[in-house]
Amino acid sequence: MHDVWKVYPNGVEALRGIDVRIDYGEFVYIVGPSGAGKSSFIKLMYREEKPTHGVVLINGVNVKRVRDWKIPHVRRKIGVVFQDFKLLPHMTAFENVAFAMEAIEMPRRKIKPRVEEVLELVGLSDRMHALPSQLSGGEQQRVAIARAIVNNPSFIIADEPTGNLDPENSWDIMYLLEEINQRGTTIVMATHNKEIVNTMRQRVIAIEQGVIVRDELGGEYGYED
Ligand SMILES: Nc1ncnc2c1ncn2[C@@H]1O[C@H](COP(=O)(O)OP(=O)(O)OP(=O)(O)O)[C@@H](O)[C@H]1O
Ligand SMILES: [Mg+2]
Repeated sequence: MHDVWKVYPNGVEALRGIDVRIDYGEFVYIVGPSGAGKSSFIKLMYREEKPTHGVVLINGVNVKRVRDWKIPHVRRKIGVVFQDFKLLPHMTAFENVAFAMEAIEMPRRKIKPRVEEVLELVGLSDRMHALPSQLSGGEQQRVAIARAIVNNPSFIIADEPTGNLDPENSWDIMYLLEEINQRGTTIVMATHNKEIVNTMRQRVIAIEQGVIVRDELGGEYGYED
């Protein structure tokens, strides 16, 4: 991101001159107080929002210039994970993950083996025909992670992925993300989870009032909430 500003229509300046470079293979935590601009930062990365000013380059592509019809192609390289899982309620775990491959028109014969592979990776082989409502929160988030990685993205963006989970499930999700990162996927994760950030010791970028105030390798959470 180069001199990136995000000003919402109501005049709120959510990001004010963000300059940052995240390299392939990194694991980055985005921290900061509520309203600091973390989700805005994340939304610019997967082109949910466009920057008001400045340049966001993802894999060398200027996201502002991407035509709407091409967004799925850009997003194919990005897996997204949310606090509230965002699974489709009428589809099974298998179908939720398969849907992400169908959306980019993968050939049918490739879908089933790949979906089974990623569901096994997240430890859900035995639950793949369950609906989201039949799964625990931790299991639902693992389905969401399977969906995020199924198309082999170069990175994963997660906005408070452990926000709705108890500590044990939160750690399961973090070990999973760590493993995915070790396989080469870049991970950028906004979080309020002090314990996780202080234990995992990755790069920490702190945002306050739309400005990066700290950017440290092996950093700490640094807030009391
Ligand atoms: N769509 C929007 N329209 C107007 N203002 C918005 C919009 N989205 C966010 N904001 C404002 O932009 C600022 C940054 O919000 P953002 O969601 O990026 O913060 P955050 O760091 O993710 O906070 P939290 O920790 O509570 O999730 C806040 O003042 C928020 O009210
Ligand atoms: Mg947020």
